[in-house]
Amino acid sequence: MSAPLVGLDIERVDGALKVTGRAAYSADVALEGLAHVVAVPSRIARGRIARIDDRDARAAPGVIAVITHENAPRLSKPVDSPYLPDVFRGKAAERWLPLQDAEIAYAGQVIALVVAETLEQAQFAAARLRIDYETQAHDADIASRRDVYRPTSAVMHELNVGWGDFDAAFARAPATLDATYTTPIENHNPIEPSATVAAWDGDALTLYDTTQTVMGTAGVVAQRLGISHERVRVVSRFLGGGFGCKGFVWHQPTLAAMAARVTGRPAKLVLTRAQMFTSVGHRPHTLQRVRLGASAGGQLLALHHTTVSETSKIDEYVEPAGFPARSLYACENVRIEHELTRLNVNTPTPMRGPGETTGTFALESALDELAYALDRDPIELRLVNYAHRHPETGRPWSSKRLEECYWRGARLIGWHRRARRPGARRDRREWIGYGVASAVFPAYRSPASARARLTRDGELVVASATQDIGTGTYTVMSQVAADVLRLPLARVRFELGDTHLPPAPVSGGSQTAASVSTAVHTACSALVAELARLATGDRRSPLFGADQSEIETGDGALFLRNRPNRRDSYARIVQRAERAHVEVTQRAPNDAHRERFAFQSTGAQFAEVRVDRDIGRLRVTRLVGVFDAGRILNPKTARSQAVGGMIYGLGMALMERTLLDPGLGRVVNDNLGDYLVPVHADIPAIETAFIDEPDPYFGPLGARGIGEIGTTGVAAAIANAVYNAVGVRVRDLPIGVEALLQP
Ligand code: MOS
Repeated sequence: MSAPLVGLDIERVDGALKVTGRAAYSADVALEGLAHVVAVPSRIARGRIARIDDRDARAAPGVIAVITHENAPRLSKPVDSPYLPDVFRGKAAERWLPLQDAEIAYAGQVIALVVAETLEQAQFAAARLRIDYETQAHDADIASRRDVYRPTSAVMHELNVGWGDFDAAFARAPATLDATYTTPIENHNPIEPSATVAAWDGDALTLYDTTQTVMGTAGVVAQRLGISHERVRVVSRFLGGGFGCKGFVWHQPTLAAMAARVTGRPAKLVLTRAQMFTSVGHRPHTLQRVRLGASAGGQLLALHHTTVSETSKIDEYVEPAGFPARSLYACENVRIEHELTRLNVNTPTPMRGPGETTGTFALESALDELAYALDRDPIELRLVNYAHRHPETGRPWSSKRLEECYWRGARLIGWHRRARRPGARRDRREWIGYGVASAVFPAYRSPASARARLTRDGELVVASATQDIGTGTYTVMSQVAADVLRLPLARVRFELGDTHLPPAPVSGGSQTAASVSTAVHTACSALVAELARLATGDRRSPLFGADQSEIETGDGALFLRNRPNRRDSYARIVQRAERAHVEVTQRAPNDAHRERFAFQSTGAQFAEVRVDRDIGRLRVTRLVGVFDAGRILNPKTARSQAVGGMIYGLGMALMERTLLDPGLGRVVNDNLGDYLVPVHADIPAIETAFIDEPDPYFGPLGARGIGEIGTTGVAAAIANAVYNAVGVRVRDLPIGVEALLQP
C-alpha cells in the first residue's frame, strides 16, 4: 500500500518541465498570426498629453496599429471583482483606466500602444512617436510629506485601532523608547516579467497571463471591457514568481486585449524590466514611529506604532505596517495608526509580507533597543511579553509555538556566543554580532473549490483554478490528492491556472496551500464516497451490498476494512459504470472555527554578522529561521519558501531600494544592474526549521501558509545583529556603508 505522501520531501512534479525549458510561461504562448505590442510610458510624472504625432510611427516597417487615448476602445469603470478574497478586501485593480484620457499622474504611466509584426518593429516604431506634454509640477518626494491624511477606505483591514489608554500608560512608564524607522520603496522583481497574450474568438477572449489570480483577472478585465466574465478565459500555467506584483490586476491584460481587438490579431504584451518598476505596483516607503513604555523589568505597558506611507494620486493603498504590533505582544495600552501622503507614483501594492515585513523591521528593532536599555536578553524580553492570547480580541490561538521557535533558533545560531554588550566580540578586523527578531504572518484561508476525476485507466486528475507562483502548488496538491485515494504520485495529475476550472482564490496572503488543499481534500473524499456508492450498489462488484463505512482505500482500489481481499479497483468501478470518468466537484467553505480562535503563524529569525568598520563592510554570515506554520505538507518545498523568504529579507536589509529622483519624478535604477538583489555570493549559510505541528482548527490538514512569514523579521534580526556587533543602531534601510564606517 502506498505510504502517505503528505509530509515527505517530494520533488516538484513540474521540476523536469521547468529545468528543460518545456514549461510554457505566458509569454511563451505562440499563436498563429501573433502581433507584438509595446507599451509606451510617460516620461513626465504629472501633466497631460498635448499632442501625439504618430505619422512616423505608423509609417515604420511592420506597424499594424498605434493606439492612444484618442482612438483607444472605451473602457468601463471597474467595480471590484467578485473573486478576490477578503485578504485584499475587494481591492482588485488600479482605478485609473488606461488610454482613456490625456491626464498623467505618474512617470511610466502607459500613454500609447504600438502593435507590429515583430517586437523589434514595435520598439522601433514606438521610438518614433512624437509626444508633446503639458508638464505640471509633480510631487514625488516622500520627504516633503505634504497633505498627510488618514485613509478612510480600508484597503486591507481596519487601519487605525487601539485599546486601553496609550498616552496615560506611556506617561507613567518607568522606561520609554521613542524611535523612528524608515524603509524605502522596493520592487518585487520576479524573474518573469508580467506578460499577456490575448486572443479574441468572436466576442470571447482568452488571456494567457502572468497572474496570481486567474479568476480576479477574468473579473476585472471583463468589467473593463464591458463584457460578461464568462466570455473571458484566463490561463496561467506557470509563473516565474509573483511576490505580490501579480496579485492585483494591473493594466497589461486589458491593454493586450485592446490591442488584439483593434488589430483583429492575437497580441502579446511583455513588460520591460523598467516597466516592472512602474506598472505593477511597489512596496511603498514607510516612516514608522514606535513608542514603547515598559516596566523596569521589561513588561510592555504602552505601545504606539504609527506609519506614514505613500499612495498614488489616482488610487489608495495603505502599507499596513502596524499589523504586527496588534498581535505580537501582550500589552494593555496599544494604539496603531496609518497615514498616507499622495505622490505622483504608481499605486503601491502588497509585496511579500505586506505590513508584517515593513512593520517587524520597526517593531522588532524597537524591542531590541528596549532590551539593551534595560539590559535584558532580547529573547527574555520577548518572553516576558509573550502573547498567550490575541492581545486585542482575547481569543485563544488555534495553536502557537513561538516560544519553541525562539529556543530552537537560539540553539541553532549559538546564542550563547552573543556578547551581552555591543562591541565586545572581534575576530581580527571584524566585529561579530548576533541578533534576533520575531517573524509573524496571519493565517488566511478563503473558500476554494476543486474537481476530482477518476479515469477508466485509474488515473486521478484533480483541478482547481488556483495558481502555482513558484511555491509548489502542483506538487503539494498532487500529494494531498494522492493520499486521499492512496495512489502513488505517478497516477495523479493536478491541473490549475485556468478559469474553466472550479474557482479558487488569489494566490496572495500565503493562503493557497491552506485554501486549495482543503478543497482538494474535500473533493477527493467526495470522489471516494461516490466510487464506494457505485461499487456497493453494483451486483458485479465484490463490494456489492457492503456498508460504505466499512470501505477503505489503498493500492488503486476500494476494499473492506475487515476483509481486505474483497476489493474493487478504481479503474474497474469506472469501467463498469460505463463512463469515461467519474468525477465530483466540491467547494470548501471557510473554517467554522474562525470566530472562536485567532490564527497566525509565528517564528524566530536569527542573524550572525561581521562588520569591518574600516571599510564599512557588513557581511551576514549566518541566518537561522524557525517557524511555526502548522503542519508542513512538503518539507522540501517548504524549506525553499523559507530560504527564499529569508533571502528576500536579506535583500531588504542590505541592498534593495528603488531610487525615485524627486526632480524628475522617475525611477533611476529601474534595472537589475542598479537595483541590487542578493546573488549567491551575498547569501550566507541559511538554516531553517519548522515546528511542524498540525493546527487543530485550521482545515483538514492543519497547514497554515508559509509563503511570506520567512521574509518577516529578517531585516530587524540583521539590524539588531549589527548593533550587537558594533553598537550602531541602524533605523533606516537598507543598511549602507555610510552607517557603518568608523567615524
Ligand atoms: Mo502576497 S504580497 O499577498 O502576493
